[in-house]
Amino acid sequence: MWYSSIIETVGNTPLVRLQTVNKGQPGTLLAKVEYFNPGHSVKDRIALKMIEDAEKSGKLKPGGTIIEGTSGNTGMGLALVAAVKGYKCVFTTTDKQSMEKVNLLRALGCEVQICPTNVEPDDPRSYYSVARRLSEEIPNSFYPDQYNNLSNRQSHYETTGPEIWEQTEGKVTHFVAGIGTGGTISGAAQYLKEKNPDIVIIGVDSVGSIFKSYFETGNFDKRHIAPYLTEGIGEDIIPANVDFDLIDEIIQCPDREAFVTTRKLARREGLFVGGSCGSAVWGAQQYIKKNPLKEDDVVVILLPDSGTRYVSKFYSDEWMRTNGFLEEEHRPELEEVITLRGMGERELITVDREETLEQAIKLMNRHNISQLPVALGDDIVGSLTENRILSLLMESADARTRKVGSVMDEPFPVVAMDLKIDQISRMLSDGPAAVMVRLDDGRHTIVTRSDLIYALAESRDSSRE
Ligand SMILES: Cc1ncc(COP(=O)(O)O)c(C=O)c1O
Repeated sequence: MWYSSIIETVGNTPLVRLQTVNKGQPGTLLAKVEYFNPGHSVKDRIALKMIEDAEKSGKLKPGGTIIEGTSGNTGMGLALVAAVKGYKCVFTTTDKQSMEKVNLLRALGCEVQICPTNVEPDDPRSYYSVARRLSEEIPNSFYPDQYNNLSNRQSHYETTGPEIWEQTEGKVTHFVAGIGTGGTISGAAQYLKEKNPDIVIIGVDSVGSIFKSYFETGNFDKRHIAPYLTEGIGEDIIPANVDFDLIDEIIQCPDREAFVTTRKLARREGLFVGGSCGSAVWGAQQYIKKNPLKEDDVVVILLPDSGTRYVSKFYSDEWMRTNGFLEEEHRPELEEVITLRGMGERELITVDREETLEQAIKLMNRHNISQLPVALGDDIVGSLTENRILSLLMESADARTRKVGSVMDEPFPVVAMDLKIDQISRMLSDGPAAVMVRLDDGRHTIVTRSDLIYALAESRDSSRE
């Protein structure tokens, strides 16, 4: 069996049970994994439908050029279909989109024009306006307009909705999807509600988008519009493809929750998906918290695209840290490390310079420690570590009778109490075995690798949901 072209592989994506989200709670959570489409996103469905409908109506003629304002995924879908059918493509997109997405479109032979994000939609520089202008200037061109072209939601009425109904054998009780153009949620919801009007439709929006406030108040209040980083969902316009009458609830997801949840989907579920997938799953979790599921409930969450387009964004720890999204931001301070281990109250264990190595070894065993500061009166004059003792004993067993002062290393470095844990960890990773910290009362305490490990593990545990 074979397909006559790649176009025939659009749709029929799998439903996959989520293993860790909602674990141990009633109900079944299923992900509709749209990266199985040939262009790796849900948008292949609308690309095919918009082009085929335009061919039928005569809007798109052989040798024509397809022009669209797209955040990447629709472009990819259109580019694949255009390649098979012999059309050219010109796309406009915003400077918020990942370069991976833009480069992918260029790889498929498309022209891509990048426009500013933070301008009004009707500004002549916006990616909507530029696409519209190009479609007027370029002869024999077709402007699909995924926002207002109802072939978009019709494709979901004809494919996504029926697939979900059939794959769950009619057992689906809730459908959760992000809202961008609104095509996915409106088309699938229309089909599902025709089959069973009790199916709950939950839309997921991004904080900073207009949809939620418009849905709840009926007013288009620009004060709700703010910049955000999640790609693909949320808008500052109301596209014709959104049918709010079919949506029961809209939940807004902040960027941080979207990205942290997406990273968990990759690491815990093996679902390497895009950022709006985290929004959808987080949205489902919020809904379930307020409306606990029953045992027979089946929640289908649509995951629109793949993670490959975001490796240099939220899948990068550095990017997450720069944007203040990484969980590790909540690292303990040095003072907490000392308090956690009760080191502030305890006397610092030291060995006198005049004592023998044997006495030092006994001291280390008794206190179960791996290193010792070496003292001369009230001063710290050196250090002794397990590593050093091991190499001395390997040289000669008689070493145990030697004076500590004759074999000790440099004292451990003294650090200030306000030094960050990251810096101390870097110092300890390939340098000294410990650092000394001066306490307020003038005494010193010691902080070792194992103290850091313990403190980091403790604070991580308490920051887990
Ligand atoms: C990554 C991503 N997620 C979600 C959506 C939202 O889907 P729809 O436009 O059908 O509302 C889009 C649409 O652009 C998208 O690209």
